[in-house]
This record gives sequence, structure tokens and C-alpha cells, in this order.
Amino acid sequence: MKQVGIESIGLYVPRYYVPLTDLARARGADPRKYTTGLGQELMGVPPPDEDVVTMGANAAHEALRDVDTDKIDTLMFATESGIDQSKAAAIYVHHLLGLPPRCKSFEIKQACCGSTAALQMALAFVAQKPDRKVLIIASDVARYGLVTAGEPTQGAGAMAFVVSAQPRILALDNEWGSYTEDVMDFWRPNYLDEAVVDGKYSIKVYIKALTESWKQYTEESGRTFADHEHYCYHLPFTRMAEKAHQHLAKINGGLSNPEQIKASLRYNRKIGNSYTASLYVGLASLLETSETDLTGHRIGMFSYGSGCMAAYFSGVVLPGYRDAVQPGRMREMLETRRALTIDEYEAFYLHELPRDGSRYLTEPHDTGRYRLAGVEAHKRLYEACAQAPQAAEPAHAVATG
Ligand code: HMG
Repeated sequence: MKQVGIESIGLYVPRYYVPLTDLARARGADPRKYTTGLGQELMGVPPPDEDVVTMGANAAHEALRDVDTDKIDTLMFATESGIDQSKAAAIYVHHLLGLPPRCKSFEIKQACCGSTAALQMALAFVAQKPDRKVLIIASDVARYGLVTAGEPTQGAGAMAFVVSAQPRILALDNEWGSYTEDVMDFWRPNYLDEAVVDGKYSIKVYIKALTESWKQYTEESGRTFADHEHYCYHLPFTRMAEKAHQHLAKINGGLSNPEQIKASLRYNRKIGNSYTASLYVGLASLLETSETDLTGHRIGMFSYGSGCMAAYFSGVVLPGYRDAVQPGRMREMLETRRALTIDEYEAFYLHELPRDGSRYLTEPHDTGRYRLAGVEAHKRLYEACAQAPQAAEPAHAVATG
């Protein structure tokens, strides 16, 4: 079978962040607990006119720069912070990006692993019909609540990637390991805006799911720990990946080499958890910031979604990947954000849209090229920002007056 894999990628992060040293001071914690203990530096925070749809559309815009959108036959939107129980976030993005009506568009959920479930499905779709391209969007806002243990592990962001039979970045291997177990480590009932979490237990389950999915992956592939030059992990916070990598090295009778994960952690340290996007933020970080040429290197990838389902898989970096990644674009996205004071962060956090159907227009903040303009009659109103080049027509007209 021809190679199938990732043809292009795009990252989008909210234009605002909180330095975790400021958060630590405000919460009476030792800043080293957040920066060293959790391994986090900055936490991305969405303004009131940003949500998973606007972040996802902005990431997809980046991923589609050099792709013929007429060839996109499927759009899968993975999220666990969706904005509607029925209508898929994918359909709003389909409109904002002007994708062809024949492109089927739907949402996928299994905590942080939804994006990887979408990837696995995309590989099958493309193998079945190799001229088809699949756009996957992973977009999430991680919320645990103000003044909780989970607060410093919040974050937000979106990754988009095109999967096709003309991969330019990563050719995916065929062997996968999976693990599912019914556990209550992290969940969010429909009536809550924040996740409920058993933090310490979630770390234990993450490690167990890594062990089990790796076992199946190695049985299927015959590969060993030494067969992978780099490793990317689901990243709730970067210290978790360090612990996971040490564990994987140990069960394989080796010593963990921090260099094998170092470049994959750089962006997460400055974004925080972005749930479905976070493994792929790690991949983007590795591809864009690695000092060495990664061509021909095999990357081991661990995806974990609480609840839980996990997947272990791998891919090989393709010649010319740097041209496809266009180094510097994602770094610039991170470097052009603005720091919030703790008061500003809390005001963003506590902002609520009306739930009674009344009309409400959001105040414009710094966003990407798409923003949430407001709500009316229980409908979310999205618009392309006037200053953005090639702005699309609004998804729903914003009433005036
Ligand atoms: P906590 O109880 O506040 O923190 O919660 P802690 O006491 O465990 O300390 C954290 C680390 O900081 C420890 O490191 C401390 O020693 C260290 P460790 O011993 O574990 O290596 N520390 C310090 N280091 C330096 N100087 C100091 C200092 N003080 C302490 N002064 C916890 C931490 C992660 C549990 C909490 O933030 C939380 O509940 N977060 C949310 C849950 C989470 O992220 N779980 C991760 C695995 S589950 C997952 O990844 C799935 C998920 O993404 C959701 C999905 O799938 O949808 C979450």
C-alpha cells in the first residue's frame, strides 16, 4: 500500500496567556512547583470571543495554506469542550473555510484521544480511496476551575492536519496499540463547565495505559525502544511526559534519554494542556524546534484520553518536511501573544454568554482571523475579522441595531 500520513499541519493558540509564576504568587504557591514540579511556564487563555470553533478554524486555515481544498472529502473535529450537544463544531468550520458541500463534517469525542481516533479513521478512509484528503481539527479549552489543583494545568489551543496519500511531513506506520478501561480519573458531566478530576489517580492510569498500548504496539510491529529516535506524549503538562518517558525506558530495560523528548515539550510549556491537540502540539514543537534534521527519524507517539482510551503508534519523518512545516510560523504564533494580569485572566475565565436566548455581542479582543461575534436566539454567531486578508463571509449574519 502507498504511504499514508500527514501532509500539512497548522497550530493556533489564543492571543493571551498567564505567566505561571504570576499565578503561583496569586495562589500562594511556590512558583517552582509550577515551573519545575509541573514543568510549565505560560498558560494559554482564550478571550470571551474565542472558542473551539474559532481556534479550530484558525488552525485549519494554517494547515490548508498549500492544500487544494476541493480535495478535502472529510472534516473530523475532535474536541471535549464542544459548544453544542447536537450540531458538530466541524460544520461551523466547514462554512468559515468555504469547504466543498461534498465534504462530510462531524465531531469525534473520547477526551484527549479523540483526535487520535480521528487520525486512525482517516488512515482507513485514505487507504480506501487514495485521492481523498481528510482534514482533522483538534481544538480544546482545558478548564479545571479557579484556585484548584488543576488550575496551573489549564491551557487552550488547536492543531489541524491534513491526512492524505501524499504525506509531506510524517508517513504513519500501520501498527497500533490500543487500551481501553472504564475509569473515573477525569470527566465533565453535561451540566458542568469545568472538568472533575482525580489528579493523582489520572497520572497512574496514564502510565498504565502507556504500558499496555506500548505492549500491543511492539507485539504488532516487532519494534523496540531503540527503534525510535524521538518520542511524543500526550501533554497535560510537560513533567508528565518526562515521567512517562522514564517509565517506558525502564520497562524496556534502558535509560531514558531526555534529548528524545526535549524538543517536543517546548511549545506545551508555553501553552498548557490543549487536550485533543496536545500530542500534536508536541509533534509540531519537535518538527519546528529540533536542532537536528529529523528526516528518516521514527517518532513514537502516545495518545491518552481520560476515562480512558489510549493509543500507541509511530511514524517516520519525510524528506522535505521542513518546507511543509514552514519553520517559524508556529513559533511566531507563540511569541506574539500578550500576558494577562491575574485580574484580567479571572475576568476572561468568569465571562459567561447568556443562556436565555437573548442577543449579546461580544467585545472584540485580539483573535485570529475568525471570532465569536455573539449569540442570538441560542445561536452562536461567528465572523471573519475585518482586518484579516481573504476574510470569509460571516457564518451567520450579526444583527445590527
Ligand atoms: P498537586 O496535588 O497540586 O501537585 O496536583 P503535587 O503536590 O502532586 O505536585 C506536583 C509536582 O510538583 C510534584 O512532582 C511535586 O513534588 C512538585 P512529582 O513528585 O510528581 O514529580 N513540587 C515541587 N517542585 C519543585 N519545587 C516545589 C514543589 N512543590 C511541589 N516547591 C496535578 C498536580 C497534576 C495532580 C494537578 O495539577 C491536576 O489534577 N491536574 C489535572 C489532571 C492531570 O493533568 N492529569 C494528568 C494525567 S491524565 C491526562 O493527561 C488526561 C487529561 O489531559 C484529560 C483528558 O484526557 O481529556 C488531563
